[in-house]
Amino acid sequence: MKSLLTLAAALVCLSLGLAASAARVPPGTDDDIRARLQPFGEVCVVGSECAAGTVASSTTAVAAGGKSGEEVYNTFCFACHSTGVSGAPKLGSAEDWAPRLAKGMDAMWETTVTGLGAMPPKGTCMACTDEEMQAAIDYMSGG
Ligand code: HEC
Repeated sequence: MKSLLTLAAALVCLSLGLAASAARVPPGTDDDIRARLQPFGEVCVVGSECAAGTVASSTTAVAAGGKSGEEVYNTFCFACHSTGVSGAPKLGSAEDWAPRLAKGMDAMWETTVTGLGAMPPKGTCMACTDEEMQAAIDYMSGG
């Protein structure tokens, strides 16, 4: 009988211990933690659904008379070029753009269209016209 009581006491202690350690888990639900672990930014491709809504197709862009450099940048380029993901030259940073502008706009145009390192061809805006692409490059580089 005594050993049974000891066992019961031990079980009570054990469960109290478990409850105490559960209370030590840092605050935050699984959803909070998952939200914090989300990657920064997202690449939007024409026609796909992104956080900002479905990316307009080229026909609507053309109907609207073409996008400005700023619009193209805000839709397709900012995911990498706002914070410099994988070494992307940042919007309006003279320091980041100087060595690239030094290569000449023609060379930069080539690499933008074909892609360079982590930079996808046409910065994922496959439907961009040459004018829209150039306007986005000018907007970002200040060139
Ligand atoms: C997925 C990320 C990503 C997206 C989206 C992206 N870029 Fe880039 N971009 C990069 C990276 C990384 C580099 C640097 C590549 C290197 O030097 O290796 C770069 C470099 C460039 C350069 C310099 C090229 C050179 O020859 O030095 C231009 C111009 C450019 N991007 C334009 C754009 C435009 C315009 C868009 C949107 C239409 C865009 N990028 C979207 C990642 C991206």
